[in-house]
Amino acid sequence: MQLVGKVALITGGSRGLGRADALALAAAGADVVITDILLESGQDSGVAQKYGPLAQFFQSSRVVYAEQTAEEIRQMGRRALALQMDVTDRQQVAEVFARVKSEMGSIDILVNNAATLDHVAQIEQQNDDFWERDLRVNLTGAYNCCKAVWPYMKEQKWGRIINMASVAGTMGGFGQSSYSTTKAGILGLTKSLALEGARHNITVNAIVPGVIATEAFQMTSPQMRERMIARTAFKRAGEPEDIASAVVFLASDGAKYITGIELYVAGGLNLFTF
Ligand SMILES: NC(=O)c1ccc[n+]([C@@H]2O[C@H](COP(=O)([O-])OP(=O)(O)OC[C@H]3O[C@@H](n4cnc5c(N)ncnc54)[C@H](O)[C@@H]3O)[C@@H](O)[C@H]2O)c1
Repeated sequence: MQLVGKVALITGGSRGLGRADALALAAAGADVVITDILLESGQDSGVAQKYGPLAQFFQSSRVVYAEQTAEEIRQMGRRALALQMDVTDRQQVAEVFARVKSEMGSIDILVNNAATLDHVAQIEQQNDDFWERDLRVNLTGAYNCCKAVWPYMKEQKWGRIINMASVAGTMGGFGQSSYSTTKAGILGLTKSLALEGARHNITVNAIVPGVIATEAFQMTSPQMRERMIARTAFKRAGEPEDIASAVVFLASDGAKYITGIELYVAGGLNLFTF
């Protein structure tokens, strides 16, 4: 229970890695705020429309667990909120962060997890609108949240920012020019803010997942999944909990001298193999 008394805010927490992070942070003692464009009780169907096929599919098939996860966390004896927040909407981000600060008392841990994963096309077929969307959500969205949380963390002289990158950002990805560009950008943001944050006792680190068996990963074709898994040293996909335990570690006091790193949780996918 090393995170008792800390408040964590997770973006894109309605399923997948964000949900696993929320549960693991709560199990380590933190109070947790889950934010996402999608909530079970969300009325706004336009939001999924705006964000493309993956959001529409998961909304219509009800793979949205933000409020359920918050309830699970309350059952664990911790405080929890599930709030609708689009990371691209600066006004909304500012309002949500102010509300969390006032209702929960602080924001100590920020996990920038929200992303779009459904734009796969070679350069000539890259969709310009999706290129812009990917930059807006994956990169500018993380920037918006870092900027919004900074004054709170600076004032309390304690903060942990954990950004979700990807092996696509360090290695590139065939057909993933927009996605990999945003994830490479996340690493630049992480390292610059790590330098700026040190004097305020704010650490900023990136996790670099490989292939992790989330609902979104299961949406790729079986052939593509097999090819990706074959590239790992373990010859299997990781579990969301593998990422969540790295998040808990980076948020803990045990990681207080670690900042600006790219922590691979990739099962050796990034290693040379033959
Ligand atoms: N699963 C993997 O194998 C893998 C590998 C490498 C990196 N990652 C990264 O890990 C993170 C989570 O991946 P996942 O597999 O759980 O994907 P996912 O699609 O299930 O989760 C992304 C979440 O972000 C939310 N979201 C999308 N646009 C948003 C916006 N504008 N504002 C707020 N929320 C928004 C979605 O609703 C969703 O809940 C992402 O950053 C992804 O790039 C995942």
